[in-house]
Amino acid sequence: MLEKAGLYTKVVGYTLYVIWAELRLALGAAIIRRQASWFGSLGAEKRTRNIVIVGASFAGYRVAQIVAKALPPRSPYRVVVIEPNSHFQFTWVLPRFCVVQGHEHKAFIPYGGNMKGAIEGSYRWVKDKVANIDRTAVKLQDSGEVIPYEFLVIATGAGVKDGLPSRVNATDKLEGMKLLQGMQKGVESANTVVVVGGGAAGVEVATDAKALYPEKHIILVHSRPAVMHRFGRGLQKAAREGLERLGVELILEDRVVDEDASSKVVTLKSGRKISYDFYMNCAGQRPLSDVIANLSPNSISSTGHIKVKPTLQIDDDSLPNVYTCGDVADTKTPNPNSRSGTRQATVVAENIVLAAAGKKPRHIYKNQWVDGIIKLTLGLDRSVTHLGDGISELLFSSKETDEALMSAMCWSRMGEKPFEDKYMDDHSAEVEADSSKVPV
Ligand SMILES: Cc1cc2nc3c(=O)[nH]c(=O)nc-3n(C[C@H](O)[C@H](O)[C@H](O)COP(=O)(O)OP(=O)(O)OC[C@H]3O[C@@H](n4cnc5c(N)ncnc54)[C@H](O)[C@@H]3O)c2cc1C
Ligand SMILES: NC(=O)c1ccc[n+]([C@@H]2O[C@H](COP(=O)([O-])OP(=O)(O)OC[C@H]3O[C@@H](n4cnc5c(N)ncnc54)[C@H](OP(=O)(O)O)[C@@H]3O)[C@@H](O)[C@H]2O)c1
Repeated sequence: MLEKAGLYTKVVGYTLYVIWAELRLALGAAIIRRQASWFGSLGAEKRTRNIVIVGASFAGYRVAQIVAKALPPRSPYRVVVIEPNSHFQFTWVLPRFCVVQGHEHKAFIPYGGNMKGAIEGSYRWVKDKVANIDRTAVKLQDSGEVIPYEFLVIATGAGVKDGLPSRVNATDKLEGMKLLQGMQKGVESANTVVVVGGGAAGVEVATDAKALYPEKHIILVHSRPAVMHRFGRGLQKAAREGLERLGVELILEDRVVDEDASSKVVTLKSGRKISYDFYMNCAGQRPLSDVIANLSPNSISSTGHIKVKPTLQIDDDSLPNVYTCGDVADTKTPNPNSRSGTRQATVVAENIVLAAAGKKPRHIYKNQWVDGIIKLTLGLDRSVTHLGDGISELLFSSKETDEALMSAMCWSRMGEKPFEDKYMDDHSAEVEADSSKVPV
């Protein structure tokens, strides 16, 4: 009882801290804008010293937003964001939109909203991918442009080879929407669906599929004795009950060791073979650190993460100007997620603003268990929210009424009106033409 009261207190403390941090940043940005309007600012052509940010998802976009708005109006620095995706890809809804039809466009949020209010010349946005990094510059994949940097942020996150349900693996919104529609059609036309991996992605997609299509045989194969095994026992139990309530067949302590796509049979480590009509790989992601393989190979850990100092500078004394945050960073965060990535991004941004002013970076990142809060959907109409500090845990069950989950909130948080997107108007002919011949 006392432990639970302690948990509530910590949650309240954390919430107040987050609100205070947001207010502080917003106030700082407002002062910079006011200074720029009173005394003028240095134009883009005079801002020749680059702070290059590689990747603009939860972590990188946040660094860009804070730094661009915090650089003084006459700073010679500017932010250069390099991101291959046409839109911010909202991972939270991907498992849901692989099953439920009609919301695909909501998973792709236009970029730009979070940069509103940054003074002119404070940032440049480049749609491309970084192919190589040396000690002074990054080289882009498509244009071949070489962009020198004085500060560098690696926020390349994590990825999967097979793409959906976990990651889109397409840079363009329309292409991503088609991939989601292909998954939906695959589930819709299957009798038996095999889902591999009982982490959050696997549990969510399996429960959604069974909730929408109760007549189908949905099988979830997971390597460990319990689904959601990286979380507390309460969540493990709730997830299992959610799967069983719907009638998902659960195979635990076994692994898929072979998937034969031509005969549509998976083989498990135990020797068991399962025929399927549709297969969904939710076996987990790997950090995308290859981008620094030439720059600082020794900073890549055995898990593929980038080793960091508490200031989130990479763990290479010869590169004090290189930072990292989010899923790619080796922060020992027990449950890496958008909250921990965003908090790390704030630390990186504030350190870079200090360093660009000639000061020592002094902000440090410490894991806080509250970052690990998870809201797990267990079918279309319910979810469970879990928080735990390793000693005690709290679980809240909720009814869900919004099929698109938190899409609208995320669009608003990204400074965009849900779900207005000029890109969709510009591509309306293609969207209509495709709606009649969705790929399976
Ligand atoms: C299916 C799923 C559901 C999830 N649901 C939740 C949830 O409900 N709540 C929650 O808090 N967290 C959730 N997460 C976790 C959350 O999505 C991640 O923690 C978060 O996306 C990490 O953000 P990031 O910026 O570090 O990296 P990422 O989101 O992985 O983004 C990295 C970015 O870098 C770009 N990039 C990569 N390589 C290069 C390069 N060479 N050059 C330029 N750009 C590059 C990519 O295009 C991408 O935009 C979920 C994750 C998944 C997979
Ligand atoms: N609602 C949410 O907040 C939400 C939703 C989705 C994802 N996420 C986050 O996104 C990240 C990725 O999640 P994820 O679910 O994609 O990955 P994950 O958490 O790594 O889970 C994948 C699981 O699949 C198991 N597995 C791997 N290969 C297997 C195989 N061949 N056969 C059977 N099981 C296998 C892994 O266990 P082994 O270790 O034994 O290989 C692992 O436990 C996590 O941080 C997660 O918390 C959050």
